[in-house]
Amino acid sequence: MKILDNEEYVITVIMAAGKGTRMKSNKSKLVHKIYGKELVRRVAELAYKIGSDEVVTVVGHLREQIQEVLGDSVKYAYQDELLGTGHAVMQAIPYLQGKKGKVVVLYGDVPIIRPETLKKLIEKSVTSKEYATLLTAIYENPTGYGRIVRDEGGNIEKIVEEKDANPLERKIKEINSGIYCFDIEELLKALKFIKPNNAQGEYYLTDVIKIMNDKGLKTGAVIVEDNTEILGVNDRAQLELLTRVLRMRINSEHMRNGVTVEDANSTYIYDDVKIGKDTVIHPNTIIQSNVTIGENCEIGPNAFIREGCVLKNKVKIGNCVEIKKTTIGEGTKVPHLTYLGDCKVGKNCNIGCGTITCNYDGVNKHQTIIGDNSFIGSNVSFVAPVKIGNNVTVAAGSTITEDIPDNTLSIARERQINKEGYYNKK
Ligand code: UD1
Ligand code: MG
Repeated sequence: MKILDNEEYVITVIMAAGKGTRMKSNKSKLVHKIYGKELVRRVAELAYKIGSDEVVTVVGHLREQIQEVLGDSVKYAYQDELLGTGHAVMQAIPYLQGKKGKVVVLYGDVPIIRPETLKKLIEKSVTSKEYATLLTAIYENPTGYGRIVRDEGGNIEKIVEEKDANPLERKIKEINSGIYCFDIEELLKALKFIKPNNAQGEYYLTDVIKIMNDKGLKTGAVIVEDNTEILGVNDRAQLELLTRVLRMRINSEHMRNGVTVEDANSTYIYDDVKIGKDTVIHPNTIIQSNVTIGENCEIGPNAFIREGCVLKNKVKIGNCVEIKKTTIGEGTKVPHLTYLGDCKVGKNCNIGCGTITCNYDGVNKHQTIIGDNSFIGSNVSFVAPVKIGNNVTVAAGSTITEDIPDNTLSIARERQINKEGYYNKK
C-alpha cells in the first residue's frame, strides 16, 4: 500500500542509544531476545513492514552490538551523549534534510507494536493533514509517562513530562507512548526550537508538539486500542511480560484460524509459523520460526519443532520428539522419544520410539532421507548421510550406516546370545 505521493518518503527513526541499566546485563538491552529475535531486530522489521523507505537507527551505548545484529539493513546515526529524545532525533537530521514525507519515530525497546497500528498512525497523519500524529493510550495508572494535555475542544495542546507536570496535569490518564508520525519538513524546523530548560535538563522531542501548535500547525493522535502493544522492556521481568503478551497474541491468532491449542500458557509458537486448520497442539510444545504445519496434524505434548520444519497434513508428532530442518510427508507418525535433524520423511511412515538421526559428525550436518510407507522399528539410529527407500522395514535397535533399497527389511544389529545355566555357575 502506497499512502504517500511518489516523491514523498516514509523514514523511520529508531531510538536505540539508551543504556538499559536495569537489565543488569553486559549486553545491550536491545540485543536481548523475544522468541529468538533481538528486540531491535523486531523494531527494524516492524519499520519495514509499515513501508518505510529508509530506517535510521540512532545508536550510542554498546552500538557495536546493535550494528552486529542489524548490519547494513538500516542506516546509523550516532548519539554520543544521551541528552534526550529530541537530541536523539537531531542526530538523524542528515538523513531527513531535503526530503518530503513522514518520519515515524520508534523506540528500540518497544518491540511488539502491531504493524496495523502504525499504518493507522501514518494514514491518520495523511488523511487529517496533521504535522504531528501521536500514538497515545489511556492508562489507569499513568505514572512515569508524559501526559497529553488537550484543550476544551479536545485538541492536543502539548505533552508534559511527569517531572514537569503540575498536580492537575498528573491526573491526566492519556499518556504519550513515545511513538509518533511527523511531517519531515516541519519536524526539522521545530527541532531547532527545542531547549533543555526542563526538570531533566534534556532536549525533549515532546516539545515539538507545542512548537507546532503555537505555529498553527495541526496535530492529532491515534489512541491505541490494545495497551499491551506499546509496552517497553526495561528489565528482565518486562522481557518476560512481553514474551507472554506476544505468546498469547500469536496463540490466539492460530486459534482464530482453526487450530486447537490445548494450553495456550505452555504453547510457544514463534513468529512466522503457519498451521493448518483442525491441527491440535498439546501442552508444552515449542514451535520455532519458519515452520509450516498442515491440517489435521497432532503435535505434542512436549514436542520441539525447530526452525525450518515442514509437516504435511495428518502428521503426528508425539511426546518428547524434537525435529529440526525436517520435512515430514502426509500421514506419517513420529509418536514418541525421537530426534530427527536434517531429515526428509515420506508419506505414511511410522517412526518408532527412540529413533535418532545421527546427523552431525562434529564438523558438518548430513541428511537422512526416508521414502514412503516405511516402518522404522524402535531405537533405530540413522548415521547420516543415509537414504532409506519406500516400503522399507528397519528392525528395532538397528544402527543404519548404509542406504536401504525399496521393499527391503533391514536388520543391523548383533544377534542375541543366550548362555543357559549361567546363574547356577555363578
Ligand atoms: C519518553 C517521552 C514520554 C513518554 C515515554 C514513553 C520524552 C521527553 N518523553 O519518556 O513522554 O511517555 O517516552 O516511554 O520524549 N533515548 C535515546 N537517546 C536519548 C534519550 C532516550 O536514544 O538521549 C531512547 C531510549 O533508549 C529509549 C527512548 O529513547 O528507547 C525513550 O527514552 P526514555 O528515557 O525511556 O524516555 P522517557 O524519558 O521515559
Ligand atoms: Mg528519560
